[in-house]
Amino acid sequence: MRTPFIAGNWKMHMDRAEAKALAQAMKTELAGVPHKLMVAPPFTALETVGAVLQGSNILLGAQNMAPATSGAHTGEISPLMLKDLGVSVVILGHSERRHSYGETDALINEKVRLALQEGLEVILCVGETLEEREANRVNQVVETQMKEGLKGVTADQLENVTIAYEPVWAIGTGKTATPDDADAVHTTVRAIVADLYGADEADKMVIQYGGSVKPDNVKGLMGRDNIDGALVGGASLKTETFVPIAQFDR
Ligand code: PGA
Repeated sequence: MRTPFIAGNWKMHMDRAEAKALAQAMKTELAGVPHKLMVAPPFTALETVGAVLQGSNILLGAQNMAPATSGAHTGEISPLMLKDLGVSVVILGHSERRHSYGETDALINEKVRLALQEGLEVILCVGETLEEREANRVNQVVETQMKEGLKGVTADQLENVTIAYEPVWAIGTGKTATPDDADAVHTTVRAIVADLYGADEADKMVIQYGGSVKPDNVKGLMGRDNIDGALVGGASLKTETFVPIAQFDR
């Protein structure tokens, strides 16, 4: 019943010409794919990619957003600016933002609430580091990130939220969580949503897996009941790898 959601995060890659060519190829090759699809180019290519994707089945996403609509925020991008460029989804709380740029749960929560208030969809990323996994703290870490990240979000707003479980040790490393490992955490994530919002909302929540998703492991992951999609980094930069992921069939 949950529509699978495959999203590509291009991170800090692609100038405008490269982004345009990639978006054009994806638009052509992914036409007719029944899953929900999104790509998030860097800010500098949003306008270019947005123009290409007009009228396609691929949503335009952004990789981050300021916790304010305007004002003295040097170097930041407002949700209004994103909407002006045709962005409909924003990735928040990515582990690279949390760990390399010091984003706290409180800051991420401000962004989540503002994005939803402004009518953007949110992909809220959660996930543990290797150290936390080895200390058996996975569930505790994910629970804190979710509870803090979703503070003040109403049940009505939750339909515009996707949770992406991304174990930090699996991002960009080539190490994917096994379907069993991922499914165990996805089951916990759904239980946390049930705890916060009730069983019906938990049932509807789309939970993506992220961390070295590739054409050869996507089917095993998506075959699990609680894994509803993927947030793809490295493999989203080429049609040869993103197209087969986006076209996965259970
Ligand atoms: P990866 O990145 O697919 O390159 O591991 C995933 C992500 O950071 O969302």
